[in-house]
Amino acid sequence: MKFSTARAALVGSSLLAATMALSACATPSGEQPAAPEPVAPAPALMPLPSSVAFPGGALPLSEGFVVSWSHPPSAMLQAAAGRFLRRADALAGRVMPAADRPVDPKVAPVPVRIEAGQDAGWLTTRAKEDYRLVVGPDGATLTADGPDGVMHGLATLVQLIGRDENGPKVDFATIADHPRFAWRGIMIDTSRHFVTVETIKRQIDAMEMLKLDVLHLHLSDGTGFRVESHVLPELTAKGSHGQYYTQAQIRDLVAYAADRGIRIVPEFDVPGHALALLLAHPELAAQSPVNPEPKNKNTAALDPTLPATLRLVRRLYGEMGRLFPDAYFHSGGDEVDPDEWMKNPKIVAWMKDHGYATPQALQAAFTAQVQKVLASQGKIMVGWDEVSEAAIPSDVVVDVWRGSKFIGSATEAHHPVIVSAGYYLDLLQPAGQHYLVDPYDLTANGITREQADKMLKKGSRPDLVAAFLKEPAPPPLTEEQKSFVLGGEAPLWAELVTDEMLDARIWPRAAAIAERFWSPAEVRDVDDMYRRLAVVNSELQITGLQGEANRWRMAARLSTGTVDPVMVLASATVPLRNYNMNRYVGRHGHRLDEIGEIASPDPVQAQRFSTLVARYVAGDHSVVPALRRQLVTWRDNDAAFAPVAQVRGLSDALVTSRHLAVIAAAGLKALDGGRTLSAPEKAIFDQEDAAINGSADVSGSFAGVNLPPAGLMVAIEPAVRKLLAL
Ligand code: ACM
Repeated sequence: MKFSTARAALVGSSLLAATMALSACATPSGEQPAAPEPVAPAPALMPLPSSVAFPGGALPLSEGFVVSWSHPPSAMLQAAAGRFLRRADALAGRVMPAADRPVDPKVAPVPVRIEAGQDAGWLTTRAKEDYRLVVGPDGATLTADGPDGVMHGLATLVQLIGRDENGPKVDFATIADHPRFAWRGIMIDTSRHFVTVETIKRQIDAMEMLKLDVLHLHLSDGTGFRVESHVLPELTAKGSHGQYYTQAQIRDLVAYAADRGIRIVPEFDVPGHALALLLAHPELAAQSPVNPEPKNKNTAALDPTLPATLRLVRRLYGEMGRLFPDAYFHSGGDEVDPDEWMKNPKIVAWMKDHGYATPQALQAAFTAQVQKVLASQGKIMVGWDEVSEAAIPSDVVVDVWRGSKFIGSATEAHHPVIVSAGYYLDLLQPAGQHYLVDPYDLTANGITREQADKMLKKGSRPDLVAAFLKEPAPPPLTEEQKSFVLGGEAPLWAELVTDEMLDARIWPRAAAIAERFWSPAEVRDVDDMYRRLAVVNSELQITGLQGEANRWRMAARLSTGTVDPVMVLASATVPLRNYNMNRYVGRHGHRLDEIGEIASPDPVQAQRFSTLVARYVAGDHSVVPALRRQLVTWRDNDAAFAPVAQVRGLSDALVTSRHLAVIAAAGLKALDGGRTLSAPEKAIFDQEDAAINGSADVSGSFAGVNLPPAGLMVAIEPAVRKLLAL
């Protein structure tokens, strides 16, 4: 990806939608008594099953579960049950070794009876994923057509674990469930920043819990080539800085994922994004000498007119295709800079001789050859949507990223489609925004004419702008076209993502996207999604994800005193969205261990606050004490933050912290009826508002506003403005 070109549209930035209700609290005198919260909110199932009923009631879980099988289980299913029991114990608080745990003689373990069918299509796009799960007074019964259904059912059962005043419990439920789409993926860019095997395994575990089934690994790009090759050992020797996966590690990862019903689809990007390859093979470069400078990282391309280029592709893909056994193989094909080819007189002459009028036509010819290579190696090619401009067989899978309209053109040509447009996690958008992008909606993602004009004025390449433009809206998908949509993927490009940051940049937002790929299209209640997302996030952290722990570690490393004020500031602030953070980092030489990396794109506390404000605005004044408590915490944090933040990585945010204090204080005043702002207060609100709106504009104009200090925005500003507007 290239952040200098806006790649996806922010469809209205209702920054913070609503979320989980705060629990009722003691009321200071003079305020209305808090309305009682529902005693037992519905369990937080995510993705929401296609059919679910909660009859009410629960079994105590202090003695855990005990699993039995109708037929002897495979080793894989036995291991799946082991993971389920470990997760259940972690969530139920059964953390001591069994021998040390006091036994409650009044409580029996909850039986889980599993009946599983066989599945010849396991680990393919035709896998049997349906399951039925009933939890009642006699325990749980899980019936699945194949191993995937067992794992999905166990993932749901884990989410039925809750807690009441008597301790852990599992809620009664009757569920019949199946996925909407077969391809439900995450893409991790391991080139821009290397990701350790351990970190990838954590993501696979979380994927299992959210019923995601494809891990697309972007393994080769400008910054690094990441897999040991025996055939071409020079690729890692010259293009990896020593950071790559050995073949043994890849086999281990593939097996680890397969054990969880997850396919790994590798991507080795050609002919663009090829700098790492070209460091080992400069003779194949479109531009010589190869320029290894950072500004060339996304642009260096292979020379497609050289027979040796295709030979390299054949040898590389042959070896990697054996290492990654999945039927699908991603060959990239995105963002080839036409100048790479058109500024090479030999390539231009070759194009003339062979009748290729444009670089797009040349790329199409190369794509067709790459497809033949992969087909001869028994693979189904996947490519970014640029490949659909080539005359390629219709079984080539088109990974749509430049805008939803390409779903229409690709399915019209009968290509299977994976939808990535609208789900780019590196845009740092809130979960609720991705959540509302439907894979069938051809207008969901792309830029408006107005945004396009702005980009053109700023000198963006007209062909790129035209590709991102979503107007005029294409006709909706026909039923036949819909049948070609395999599903979607949530990509995380990693220019600004270190190994330490990865968990928190993927989760919990990817859980909301997982629901979009699994649950019926009608499931679109953003408030309810956020209610459940907060619970799911806790479950992910309790069972092993390191997102919150790593954010805390990063904060603790920077702070010269306690860590709390850093985390409190992060709870109300968000990093700039839509690649404006990349701009900030580019200008300020950020080191990716600062407050902008600790801050979440969608902090739970800010979401919660926004929900409470919505309730208050709707007339529910029982939320006042909770609003007040939160605002006091944010207002008073500045005094605690300033002394610990006189250091690199935090000091830029002193201004942000001060803004938060002023905005929170204004919110408190508003609750007391004071709705006017002083001129300096108003200036701060306006600055934050301009930052939020500017950073929401994908055309990257940023409305003439300077990038805010630390690349941070006060996320609660719009909600407080609502309090003031009353
Ligand atoms: C991409 O984001 N360049 C596929």
